[in-house]
Amino acid sequence: MDESRQTGMDSAGNGSDDWWNPDLEPEEFRRLGYQAVDMIADYFGALDELPVFPGKSSEEIARVFAEPLPQQGSHPDEVLQEWSRRVLPNSTHVGSPRYFGYVNGSGTMIGVLADALAASVNMNPGGWKPGPSATEIERRTIAWIAEMIGYPSDCGGLLTSGGTMANYTGIMTGLRNTAQYDTTAEGLQSGERNGRFLIYMADHEGHVSIKRVADLLNLGRSAVRRVPSRADFTMDPEALQRMIAQDKVQGDHPFCVVAQVGSINVGAIDPLEAIADVCEENRMWFHADGACGAVGAVLPEKRELYAGLERADSVTLDPHKWLFLPYECGCLLVQDPEKLRRSFSMTAPYLRGTLPTEYTGQDYFEYGPQMSRGFRALKVWMTLKHYGVEGYRRLLSQGVRCAEHLDHRVQASKDFERLHAPTLYIYSFSYAPQELQEQANGSRAEQERVESALDWMNQRIADEIQARGTAFIMTSRVHGRTVLRMSICSHRTTLEHIDTVFDALAEIGREAYGEWKSNNGQ
Ligand SMILES: Cc1ncc(COP(=O)(O)O)c(C=O)c1O
Repeated sequence: MDESRQTGMDSAGNGSDDWWNPDLEPEEFRRLGYQAVDMIADYFGALDELPVFPGKSSEEIARVFAEPLPQQGSHPDEVLQEWSRRVLPNSTHVGSPRYFGYVNGSGTMIGVLADALAASVNMNPGGWKPGPSATEIERRTIAWIAEMIGYPSDCGGLLTSGGTMANYTGIMTGLRNTAQYDTTAEGLQSGERNGRFLIYMADHEGHVSIKRVADLLNLGRSAVRRVPSRADFTMDPEALQRMIAQDKVQGDHPFCVVAQVGSINVGAIDPLEAIADVCEENRMWFHADGACGAVGAVLPEKRELYAGLERADSVTLDPHKWLFLPYECGCLLVQDPEKLRRSFSMTAPYLRGTLPTEYTGQDYFEYGPQMSRGFRALKVWMTLKHYGVEGYRRLLSQGVRCAEHLDHRVQASKDFERLHAPTLYIYSFSYAPQELQEQANGSRAEQERVESALDWMNQRIADEIQARGTAFIMTSRVHGRTVLRMSICSHRTTLEHIDTVFDALAEIGREAYGEWKSNNGQ
């Protein structure tokens, strides 16, 4: 075998005039590929045992990778070994059944293979011509996802990098299609604009990505109006109606309501029918942010909660969350595909090329903000084929059962406090030993002292369980208090994992309480 190919050393660098072809011979690629597949298979085999978090600081990990820019190439065997030597030992195992951070999906195995296959063809379904099968698979996948959740399957839509970009694409479409003038040419700089363009979402559970949308649309973050919530953390539609009416009187232009469909702290689903009514009455765009939870509509036992979702003008749903796809993969559905096209369409002579006209199809660059795009659809399409809707139903209901089981454990313990009933798979609760809570019954000062102790303990528990590698759990704030939050968004988590993790939380909690007592002379 040609040594220059094996080593990746450029023969031109050695003074030869030979043309350099850096590709590997097929047999060499096969050997390395098998090696990579072995590494992946071994990883999946060990995943349940690995510490979830490396427990090292950013500086420590940066030091592992501190090396000069390579001037000369290395042998591909050596490059691949880097994975086991330096990358994996410094990774957070998001696919672990004991990983409960953010809303991160666990990554399907077939999705891993699909990503490798997609990378091999390297199609670019930004346009139809550089990605004909990729485009048609994406269109089919969009229709399937819509059908799965009971949304009209003749809708438009596309896969995005994630929920934030799906929210942006949906709300941008809302702005373009509800503004009093055509915003395409002059945008917000038009003299025809009067008042502010306003977006509405629930005060407690509205997601921060909508602020990013306001950034991207350059509306200013104050354009995101926070609507009061009810006791179950869902948006109060009457308060919404009142706010919109008042804002209109001020001369503003309320254009979009964002409903949470599976909210970030408690998995709440806003009252979709009522919000759809408000939007219809006020001619506003109804965007459902179902990044975390829209896919739950596939569960017959939850279906009622989703009534009205089919009326949303646009729906965000992240396959890299509760469909467990490997990163990145968000998705936006838009009821009227033409409204999406009208919002993003643009043309240039070099975009359509010169193949005969029968070789044309949907150019996704006309339907979203990206031009070049990856073949994300393959992993969604293949995983849907692999599990089927029935398989997904089982996986999703297992996730809900895990959250319900956790809720039972919380309720049965004197050391934990329940904050809400689980709706889907995201569950927040707090460590609050009864003995300490009883002390809060005294003066206001005593109550504050107990609250700050509990906030400290809950943070301490999350930090400690991460540092020990037992589980990845983060804190959040619910009604102003620091709480433990678990997003059980892994198709690998079982009831046994929940028990193990809950027992570990209880133990660390007792230690933290003991530490607090000794620090406070008790
Ligand atoms: C409700 C909701 N919307 C949007 C997003 C943003 O999704 P992404 O991180 O994929 O951009 C998240 C992320 O957790 C979310 O929970």
